[in-house]
Amino acid sequence: MPAIVVLGAQWGDEGKGKATDLLGSRVDYVVKFNGGNNAGHTVVIGDEKYALHLLPSGILTPGVIPVIGNGVVIDLSVLFQEIDGLNSRGIDTSRLLVSANAHVIPSYNRTLDKVTERFLGSRRIGTTGRGIGPTYADKMSRVGIRIQDLFDEKILRQKVEGALDQKNHLLVKVYNRRAITVDEVVEELLAHTERLRPYVADTTLILGEALQRGDVVLLEAGQATLLDVDHGTYPFVTSSSATAGGACTGAGIPPTAITRVIGIAKAYITRVGEGPFPTELFDEDGEKLREIGHEFGTTTGRPRRCGWFDVPIARYAGRVNGITDLVLTKLDVLSGWELIPVCVAYDVDGEILTDLPMTQTGFHHAKPVYEYLPGWTEDISGARTLADLPQTAQDYVAFLEARSAVRISAIGVGPERDQTVVVHNLVD
Ligand code: IMP
Repeated sequence: MPAIVVLGAQWGDEGKGKATDLLGSRVDYVVKFNGGNNAGHTVVIGDEKYALHLLPSGILTPGVIPVIGNGVVIDLSVLFQEIDGLNSRGIDTSRLLVSANAHVIPSYNRTLDKVTERFLGSRRIGTTGRGIGPTYADKMSRVGIRIQDLFDEKILRQKVEGALDQKNHLLVKVYNRRAITVDEVVEELLAHTERLRPYVADTTLILGEALQRGDVVLLEAGQATLLDVDHGTYPFVTSSSATAGGACTGAGIPPTAITRVIGIAKAYITRVGEGPFPTELFDEDGEKLREIGHEFGTTTGRPRRCGWFDVPIARYAGRVNGITDLVLTKLDVLSGWELIPVCVAYDVDGEILTDLPMTQTGFHHAKPVYEYLPGWTEDISGARTLADLPQTAQDYVAFLEARSAVRISAIGVGPERDQTVVVHNLVD
């Protein structure tokens, strides 16, 4: 029963598309199991560039069945915008399956996301403002609206009423906004019902049967390990489970079905939004990484914060996810540095730690302890085997692998699909 998880090992935007490409035509289903349209991935096929925020990348691969799992939160207008955008470019989206148990992002949660951030001021999270956090909060508070509710108008109205009872107090009394009526929300949601109907399915049943048949199910995480609501740098995280465990709950598949966990890490590290970031660079090196690596958010366009590779984070991601293979992306961005610093430990108020500090306070105080590795100046974008890389680049990769205790199976050396050094086959 081969289920393969692909997830980010840092703070997101690691370039998961590389791993998906390497798995190629062996995959039968691609499942998005967490997050919503806060994600952003750009897929380049030939001369065509596709920016997806909500749809699983499998939507672009002929023959693959793309699935939006129960763990996802769905903005229906974004869903149909993306579907329309793809259809207008000749991409067939009719295979898409949407879990009846996935939650919907009603417009009031987008409003609440934005006003809450403004209200938090200097304590803001730096969210994408897409209503993700409030919708997951509703799910846990049991006042969420699910896809299946759209097919029972009476129930939908009751649920919207229940949710608005609380939300309107907040909006009016705390945030000084106008109250939202039940009618406008119900109308907005019902507007999508008929178009949605053919896609809605019992996706856990379909995936369970697929696994029984021996089909390959690829589970694609949105965001990344350090943005996971349990295992990330809380509270500066997203509101879903972006780690390997989240794949089970967010898709409804058993842990025993997972045969491989592919982690993706950049050869350096970036993050968007607020929160601690020990190796963050505020100097021209940070600027250079941002420019060369095109480090600007796909969803919000925000410049990403950039820093050097962080070994304790990679070790941590390896451990909490059980990573079997690491794909190291964007190694080409590091060409041209005489010495490349790698954070191998933290100095936390005088104590040297090679693992993540236990507390958030510790993480805020963590100062990187660097080792400096010789760099290279060659253009490495044409490398396809390890031996094609300059010796210093090979040594850099070997150092990260040894210190992070995760096997590096592939290395990205450029944005194109084939610009990858494959060290170990991801398919067998
Ligand atoms: P939210 O997911 O919109 O609630 O934002 C919470 C945090 O996660 C913020 O710091 C965002 O910038 C970050 N975030 C959300 N989605 C992504 C992503 O796809 N890549 C990187 N960071 C993300």
